[in-house]
Amino acid sequence: MTRRVAILVSGGGSNMVRLVESMTGDHPARPVLVLSNDPEAGGLRRAAEMGVPTAAVSHKPFKGDRAAFEAALSEPLAAAQPDIICLAGFMRVLTEGFTRRWQGRMLNIHPSLLPKYRGLHTHARALEAGETEAGCTVHEVTAELDDGPLLGQARVPILPGDTPETLAARVLVEEHRLYPAVLRRFAAGDRTPVLLP
Ligand code: GAR
Repeated sequence: MTRRVAILVSGGGSNMVRLVESMTGDHPARPVLVLSNDPEAGGLRRAAEMGVPTAAVSHKPFKGDRAAFEAALSEPLAAAQPDIICLAGFMRVLTEGFTRRWQGRMLNIHPSLLPKYRGLHTHARALEAGETEAGCTVHEVTAELDDGPLLGQARVPILPGDTPETLAARVLVEEHRLYPAVLRRFAAGDRTPVLLP
């Protein structure tokens, strides 16, 4: 049975594009919705160009009331009836209620080798700490921020002279390989972590 996938984005959506592009042919899933908390998100335009239905629910009118924002977000989600949600650069922290509702069916990509560097500014923090490698992680979303069962990880070296920007670009290349590989496996019912390279 084909799995229905909703992708949540806040920004340009380059990971979302790679996920959508991957879901063709014998892939066990298809994209049914790209949803954003920012009506201006570049990812919405890119999704529409690829023929994927889009929706936006701005978090701003909710003024920090996360549960109310999520209730509004849940309307287009419910209409799309996804089996799987992929967070792809979705920059809102979710409540325990929302994460519990989707537990085991919601994935996130994070630009660090979790459990290191949860939260923001991962690349700057890895550089500051003198790390020799960095990377990205795909995991199941639980109530704890940037936590939950590991579904995949990709590593890159940190090179002399790296800045947060050069490192972010090197990691993003791996994000684009990792997330589609994990989604394909996950949608087929296999939660064995994908370890790249
Ligand atoms: C990606 O690097 C993703 O790992 C990161 O935001 C970027 C989104 O880029 N996500 C987080 O930091 C989540 N806490 P994209 O919009 O081009 O996919």
